[in-house]
Amino acid sequence: PVIYVVTPTYRRPEMVAELTRLGQTLTMVKRIHWIVAEDSHTCSPPITSLLDRLGLSYTHLASPMPEVYRREKYVPRGVSNRRAALQWVQENGEDTGVLYFLDDDNAIDIRLFNEMRLTQTVSMWPVGLIGEYTVSSPVVKGNQVVGFYDGWPAGRKFQVDMAGFAVNIGYLKKQKKVTMPYIAGHEEDGFLKSLNLNLKDIEVKADGCTNILVWHTRTAKNPSRTLRLAHHQATNIKPLTDN
Ligand code: UGA
Ligand code: MN
Repeated sequence: PVIYVVTPTYRRPEMVAELTRLGQTLTMVKRIHWIVAEDSHTCSPPITSLLDRLGLSYTHLASPMPEVYRREKYVPRGVSNRRAALQWVQENGEDTGVLYFLDDDNAIDIRLFNEMRLTQTVSMWPVGLIGEYTVSSPVVKGNQVVGFYDGWPAGRKFQVDMAGFAVNIGYLKKQKKVTMPYIAGHEEDGFLKSLNLNLKDIEVKADGCTNILVWHTRTAKNPSRTLRLAHHQATNIKPLTDN
């Protein structure tokens, strides 16, 4: 089965560095289709060049966040572009394939792809270096998910990070109202709820969720105003954000 890896990204000086690192990791894995979905009106030329050079099977999309959400106190990041990728997968993905959301700044052990490749419905595993508890994980009993260990419960049914689950495409296509909400912090929960998923249907991966194979690493923003200006001039593109 093909793994459709969906990576939302947006223009800032770190974008090329993040996607170079992640893309080179993905070249080590067989049967990957990388969907790079930009939070932008157009696809950035340096990213198209990178994708061509990597030699991966890929789709390059652009779908900007509606302005109304950008003005919110807690901005729901990467939703418009993930939705565009989701639609692409629903229309073009092979039924036997698997969907995986992987943010551009995360770090992944390529063994995780072996774990998720045979997902029949939805599979889950722990994510490291996240939140107050430093790990977010399903709680497993008798190879079944019975709850979640997560530093930010927030009333969520599925207390998981975006990097902590994969979905079978055939199963995805059978669901009637698949969506991801524009609600910061509730993107994962809202998406999984829209899949009509029960805890008992979740497939447990990574040695019964005892093994950490993906990390919610974050890249510090370079504070240099000069770098930002140079980046904007070099790409000749208006920045979407100035932080
Ligand atoms: C966490 C989760 O890991 C994300 O999956 C979730 O979308 C996010 O919180 C949220 O709830 O808003 P975090 O590290 O806090 O992620 O956020 P970022 O890494 O800044 O952004 C998540 C993804 O969206 C990244 O791939 C980033 O490139 C992309 N993004 C960010 C955009 O496409 N547009 C933006 O304006 C900001
Ligand atoms: Mn992040």
